[in-house]
Amino acid sequence: MSTINYSEKIPNNVNLGEDRTLQRALEGWQPNFVNWWDDVGPDGSTNYDVYLRTAVSVDPQGWAQFGHVKMRDYRWGIFLNPGDANREIHFGDHKGEKAWQDVPGEHRANLRRIIVTQGDTEPASVEQQRHLGLTAPSMYDLRNLYQINVEEGRHLWAMVYLLHKHFGRDGREEGEALLQRQSGDANNPRILGAFNEKTPDWLAFFMFTYFTDRDGKFQLSALAESAFDPLARTTKFMLTEEAHHMFVGESGVSRVLQRTAQVMNELKTDDPQKVRAAGAIDLGTIQRYLNFHYSVTIDLFGADQSSNAATFYSSGLKGRYEEGKRTDDHVLKGQTYKVLEVVNGQLVEKDVPMLNALNEVLRDDFIKDSVAGVGRWNKVLEKAGIPTRLTVPHKAFNRQIGALAGIKMSPEGRVVNEQEWAAKKGEWLPTPDDFAFVASLMGRVVDPGKFAGWIAPPVMGINRQPVDFEYVRFG
Ligand SMILES: [Fe+2]
Ligand SMILES: [Fe+2]
Repeated sequence: MSTINYSEKIPNNVNLGEDRTLQRALEGWQPNFVNWWDDVGPDGSTNYDVYLRTAVSVDPQGWAQFGHVKMRDYRWGIFLNPGDANREIHFGDHKGEKAWQDVPGEHRANLRRIIVTQGDTEPASVEQQRHLGLTAPSMYDLRNLYQINVEEGRHLWAMVYLLHKHFGRDGREEGEALLQRQSGDANNPRILGAFNEKTPDWLAFFMFTYFTDRDGKFQLSALAESAFDPLARTTKFMLTEEAHHMFVGESGVSRVLQRTAQVMNELKTDDPQKVRAAGAIDLGTIQRYLNFHYSVTIDLFGADQSSNAATFYSSGLKGRYEEGKRTDDHVLKGQTYKVLEVVNGQLVEKDVPMLNALNEVLRDDFIKDSVAGVGRWNKVLEKAGIPTRLTVPHKAFNRQIGALAGIKMSPEGRVVNEQEWAAKKGEWLPTPDDFAFVASLMGRVVDPGKFAGWIAPPVMGINRQPVDFEYVRFG
């Protein structure tokens, strides 16, 4: 068992104490991190004691220890999954060679870019969510928000460790820049589009954690295959935490649907205005939020054809989702994959070299996984006897990146012209009125066991605690 030493300033299982230079560099970064947390972390939370899970080791018994802590004093640190000295690279041109413990010179720039891009998303989501605590629908939900926030902070630590340890001065500069860019900042925004969008309310938060944290799962899974062993081990441990983030999203939307269905049944209506007047969120609004978060999130996978994606794979930097479970040659030369292209204003399928289409491969894996959860949401409606179903929009709907950005598409996959898009946009994507309505429901409910009227309570509490447990002690 690789235990984490909490007597050290920076909890870690990487023998940080043996590398004084690295330790000093990280100890130099730590106060800047805490300043960042104080400035743009969860609003007004400084004195709260929050029932958080903290990792004390990376094995199954140790990574989820629960107790009340102040978030500022959360033991952010550096935890890598145990290494395997004999691990081999299992895809790309270096297949069969030993995994790298350090960064090969020729891959340095690309690896740095991959780590910085991943690292940038972690603090970004904390920034995006920083005001949500003020309108939490329950103490249980407030605690889940904070759990996600501290873990995203720890994910930033994970990436900054790799930058400091393996990229010298460049890495230290990148570590500082990760604290300087800010979500939505016009002059110095976060790197990826979805991480500059607002998360204005809790429905958006649940959609974000369902869809966008799931993007995280797929990106981290691809990096967990990396030939660069420290990156693989770091991201494997991050994935254990990511599961809870997606749970918060999936169960959050389920609970919203449950409440909406209940109101619809009580009033015997599917009229959105009546549902709204009763203080629940109408299904049309939920569908529009889904359409937005889904389309913005699938853009995160990048251009459908990308020579960078081919390079990252062939050089062993980034594998596919569940690379080890696939039965092909793991080199992919000469293989093809179908992507969509816009020709004369219509979508056509086209075979392209698979290596160049690996962003699309990962996006398609993400889509399959997302759709499965939407099916579980529909079960909530089905069980309540509501005939409406939620759907994920067509892959080309509302895209800003890649070939599909060049077309306007309805959610069901019909090509539309600019006029129709402008006329129907308000049926397909959240409108200012939707946002204003959802915002009007957001009031703080934080007495233990109490829940806002637009969301059903969860089936059970956290870590087998009761639902009305005091998850947050306000100082
Ligand atoms: Fe994360
Ligand atoms: Fe996450």
